[in-house]
Amino acid sequence: MSYPYQIKTLEGYKSDYQKSVEDPEEFWGNIAESFTWQKKWDKVLDWNFKEPSIKWFQGGKLNITENCLDRHLEKNGNTPAIIWESNDPDEHHRVLTYKELHFKVVQFANVLKNNGVKKGDRVCVYMGMIPELAIATLACARIGAVHSVIFGGFSAQAIADRLEDAKSEFIITCDGAYRGAKDIPLKSVIDDALVGNHTIKKVIVCTRTRTPVSMIKGRDVWWEDEIKKVETHGNPDCPAEMMDAEDILFILYTSGSTGKPKGVVHTVAGYMIWANYTFVNVFQYQQGQIHFCTADIGWITGHSYILYGPLSAGGTSLIFEGVPTWPDAGRFWDVVDKFKVNILYTAPTAIRSLMGFGLEYVNGKDLSSLKVLGSVGEPINEEAWHWFHKNIGKEKCPIVDTWWQTETGGVMISNIADVTPSKPSFATLPLPGIQPCLVDENGVEIEGNNVSGNLCIKFPWPGIIRTTYNDHERCRQTYFSTYENKYFTGDGCSRDEIGNYRITGRVDDVLNVSGHRIGTAEVENAINMHAGVIESAVVGYPHDIKGQGIYAYVIYDGSHGDANLSKQDIIQTVSRIIGPIAKPDKIQFVPGLPKTRSGKIMRRILRKIAEGDTSNLGDTSTLLDPSLVDIIKEGRI
Ligand code: WT7
Repeated sequence: MSYPYQIKTLEGYKSDYQKSVEDPEEFWGNIAESFTWQKKWDKVLDWNFKEPSIKWFQGGKLNITENCLDRHLEKNGNTPAIIWESNDPDEHHRVLTYKELHFKVVQFANVLKNNGVKKGDRVCVYMGMIPELAIATLACARIGAVHSVIFGGFSAQAIADRLEDAKSEFIITCDGAYRGAKDIPLKSVIDDALVGNHTIKKVIVCTRTRTPVSMIKGRDVWWEDEIKKVETHGNPDCPAEMMDAEDILFILYTSGSTGKPKGVVHTVAGYMIWANYTFVNVFQYQQGQIHFCTADIGWITGHSYILYGPLSAGGTSLIFEGVPTWPDAGRFWDVVDKFKVNILYTAPTAIRSLMGFGLEYVNGKDLSSLKVLGSVGEPINEEAWHWFHKNIGKEKCPIVDTWWQTETGGVMISNIADVTPSKPSFATLPLPGIQPCLVDENGVEIEGNNVSGNLCIKFPWPGIIRTTYNDHERCRQTYFSTYENKYFTGDGCSRDEIGNYRITGRVDDVLNVSGHRIGTAEVENAINMHAGVIESAVVGYPHDIKGQGIYAYVIYDGSHGDANLSKQDIIQTVSRIIGPIAKPDKIQFVPGLPKTRSGKIMRRILRKIAEGDTSNLGDTSTLLDPSLVDIIKEGRI
């Protein structure tokens, strides 16, 4: 495949950027011509940020799987679409060519139909990182069902909440998942999530770990049995459902500043074009290269840069089931060496963690196939950037520092590999189509360079969030009401003397723990559910590996019993309610929380104490009980 819209030079970037701003409809209309449509669109863009209402390629009909699979069959049918590396280095890897992947997706699409799944139905996908996860999501897209993938680290309660919010009637899961030395009983977690549930019609269970599972008659079916049914009775074909450009492709839940995660909605055409355009440009993907994105498909990074970006480009995407540090900290480098990976896209937290294990795990591995390195999820600190650049890229590979969000569908601000310059710890320049701006607290745009403010985007791009599922008002309030006529990212940002952007982190009550977004309110709600907890306040603090750690101040009615045990119990509760990813790193029992007379917790003070910066806590005179501050300072962990 060739990509006529691939930017090749700095001048090319500048002129494409210019065109994208001057005539966005012309610019995106041209790019959209490179894709497969069942019917051409009538209008490229129709929008207002007030409601918001954003419609790309209205009137167009298409199916994303025709773009990710069918259109590659003729010329690239035998090209590997997916290379899968097991958690266990001794288990044989698997390769699925485009022909094979197409066959399996079509086959499983028929399984879904046989089980009553119809266009528009929401299907929850809770699986480990095996090829069947890709097959399941693509099969949903094939028949126009809406997938809602939930990361394997979420608990039964978190799944139950998401099932209810999305009104899902179908689940696709595995018996279990391997992650390093652990074996996660996915089906059993689903069973817990379904206690008392009457809306789920079918649970399709794929075999991976052979952990014993309970199968409920009439509800639970085995993936493998269902495949046999379509093999013998089914039509080997499953025509791609005709989808409107603005039909929902998927829902992906993410945390915000309230206690309840929201279902970010992406639609077919705009998302597809944005995932593809950013993949092909940022990483400068060339046909035949092997792209290894280390994220889990349960996060947006996996959706866009393991599945839809690479596959829509006819690329080869590597899916890795395991973790970077098992059986040892050389696992990523072994995978790169084994498959001669060309592009490695990972997270600063992984780099920092591997950095800590020392170079003995890197030395001796052949990393010469690497051409481009990428970073995503949080600001990359200079030390990690240089370590990555020197020891992994051998000072030959550009590092793309890609800033984006679940809501943006794909990369927004990033250097373009070997095309635009990098600058350590800067995401640098906006991609064509992205019009960023910085605003002050009053919403006034800050012009010029060497400035900082809150990061907003002034104009829609094809991959922008369309709504939050079932709650459009929440979408409006969260993203489009803080600043009039702008999409607000929730991030603080600065712009250097030549216009490079540097993301400085969230300005709302959202934490970024190991590149995962976690709302402080969500963790507080979970902690507060534990018996004996009266009140709690959660803040972030700098953590060497995770970027941010979770620090919880808890008022606990623990007059009796062991404090350490109680803290373990609280951690258990959070694990139950949200999942192990939200477990507090530190818990401090406090007699009270610093509140203003109006009852508002002064988080600024708690943040400072958690950070260990207690010299200047600012004005504490408005506190109801200023003496509390000293007690909390004393008890700092
Ligand atoms: C938040 C979005 C987008 C995929 C992974 C996270 C932070 C993301 C960067 C970066 C600095 C970054 C922001 C953003 N973030 N990438 N390159 N530099 N910060 O997706 O869970 O939706 O989180 O991650 O704070 O708002 P997400």
